[in-house]
Parts: sequence; structure tokens; C-alpha cells
Amino acid sequence: MEQIGIIGVGEIARAIVEGLSDGVAEPPRIHLSPRGAATAAEPARRYPNAQVRADNQDVADRSDVLILAVRPQDAAAALPGLRIGDGSVVVSAIAGIGIDELRGMPGTDAPLVRTIPMPAVRERRSVTVAHPSHPVVDALFDRLGGTLPVADEAAFSVFSTLTGTLSTHYRYLATLTDWASRQGVPAEEADRYVRGPSPGNRARRRARAGRRDPLPPAAAGDHETAGGSSERIRTTWFDAANAEALTRALDGFLARLRQVRQRRPPVLSGTGRG
Ligand SMILES: NC(=O)c1ccc[n+]([C@@H]2O[C@H](COP(=O)([O-])OP(=O)(O)OC[C@H]3O[C@@H](n4cnc5c(N)ncnc54)[C@H](OP(=O)(O)O)[C@@H]3O)[C@@H](O)[C@H]2O)c1
Repeated sequence: MEQIGIIGVGEIARAIVEGLSDGVAEPPRIHLSPRGAATAAEPARRYPNAQVRADNQDVADRSDVLILAVRPQDAAAALPGLRIGDGSVVVSAIAGIGIDELRGMPGTDAPLVRTIPMPAVRERRSVTVAHPSHPVVDALFDRLGGTLPVADEAAFSVFSTLTGTLSTHYRYLATLTDWASRQGVPAEEADRYVRGPSPGNRARRRARAGRRDPLPPAAAGDHETAGGSSERIRTTWFDAANAEALTRALDGFLARLRQVRQRRPPVLSGTGRG
């Protein structure tokens, strides 16, 4: 049976466990690091194929594929001293640490692949950027929505930068929904409309669970690691003043549309579609 280990059980690890296990007839065996016992125990409680192990080395010893999902600032404490068999494949989800730097941390000559898994892998709807391409890693993320192997680390960094804009994007959508609901439009309709066909959004998962209330703005936090690039872009660019500026622009545009309607009777007047 396939043996997958994860060191660093937070948002991304939980999403990977869920994506690999939820409703899957023959899920892989998943070994989880014990740090933050309550957090690590939650996926293990939900999925019998996942178990919390004694320590990080125990996880590494049991795994053919070892996923590193600690925060960048924790890597220097988590990885040195870790022994990883050369027959394993190491998958790093750690943002901002290049392959050369990573190679020097745990003791291994195993193949090392950098990836950008997103929270939507839990719904098997998110494409995961990977470098370099490796058949085992490509097959793993193909099960979670697809793999996008990129040619080099320069291209990988471009995708990392794009990733850093996503929580800003979700906050932007939440601002649009808030604004629309203040204009009297049902929030769930505005939410469904502005989210459109975007893949892997939590709104779909909530809808499947029968929840029709709009996603709270705090959902941006799911796409961020504390102190990471996503948080920095959101808080420096999409701050309260920017949200207010967007709201004012929307107000201004709506006011202009209303003036136009007042001056010129709508062609479809009486159909309810003007
Ligand atoms: N969230 C995203 O959307 C996203 C997207 C792409 C890439 N990433 C990257 O993926 C990595 C994980 O992100 P995340 O959002 O899942 O972070 P997270 O929710 O903060 O989870 C990280 C986990 O690692 C644990 N940890 C810290 N030191 C450890 C150690 N020595 N041994 C074992 N576990 C340790 C932490 O425990 P404590 O809380 O007790 O410290 C925490 O449970 C980060 O490098 C991030 O840059 C995240």
C-alpha cells in the first residue's frame, strides 16, 4: 500500500489528507507528524487511513512520499537531522525555500520536488504547480485536481507570486458581495454571481452541505500562512482604504447608471429586466 507522510499538519496538510481520502475506495496510508496534537488528530479521527505518528522521524521512516508542509520560518528547526531514505520522494510545499537550500536541510539524496498545493486540493479541484516534474508526484497531485509541472525555479517563483494574490482575490469578492447586499441584493445570489465558475471554492462545498449563507471574509485566512506572502499582499494592497475606494467606485458607477435610467426610460421597461 502507498505510504504518504506529512510533516507539518496545518491547513495544507489537512486539505491533502481530505483530498486523498474523502470518499476514496482505496486511500493511501497517511502518516502525520504529531506537533499540535489536536490539529493533527482531527484528520486522523475523520479518516482511518491517516494516523498521527510518534515524531517526525517516525513519519519519515514509514513514508515512500514525504510531504513537507511546515511554515518557512519553521523549516530550519523541523528539517535538519531528519533522515530520509534515498528511495523516498520528498515533496516540499514550503513557500520561498529553493531546492538547493532545501537539499541541505534534511539528510537525503532522495528526489526533491517543490510544489504549491492550494486548500482546494481537498475538493480535488486545484491544479498544483510542481518543479521538477516527477512521475510519482505528478500522479499524486493528478488525483487532487491536476499537476502543472513548470520548467525551472524562475517559472516556479512566478507561480508563487500569483499564488500570493489569491487571498486578496477572495477578499475582493467578499467586498463585492457585501456591497451588493447593502444595495438590497440577496448576499447569496451576489456571492454565487461574483464567484462564477472559479474552481475549488468553498462556496460549492458549503452549498453541497446545504449552507447558502455567503462565505465570511475570514475565508481569506484559509489561503494564507501567518506572516507569509499572501498575508503581506492582502494587508499592504487590499487594506481597508482600498476596500473603501472600491466600494466608492461601485457606488459611483451605480449612481451613474441610475442617472442614465432616469434620463432615458429602459427599453425593457415592464419586463422586470431593465
Ligand atoms: N495555506 C496556503 O494556502 C498555502 C498555499 C501554498 C503553500 N503553502 C505553504 O505550505 C506550508 C504550510 O502552510 P499552512 O498554511 O498549512 O501552515 P499552517 O496551517 O501554519 O501549518 C503548519 C503546521 O506545521 C507545524 N509545525 C511547525 N513546526 C513543526 C515541526 N518542527 N515539526 C512538525 N510540525 C511543525 C505547525 O504547528 P504549530 O502551529 O504548533 O507551530 C502547524 O501545525 C507553508 O510553508 C506555506 O508557505 C500554504
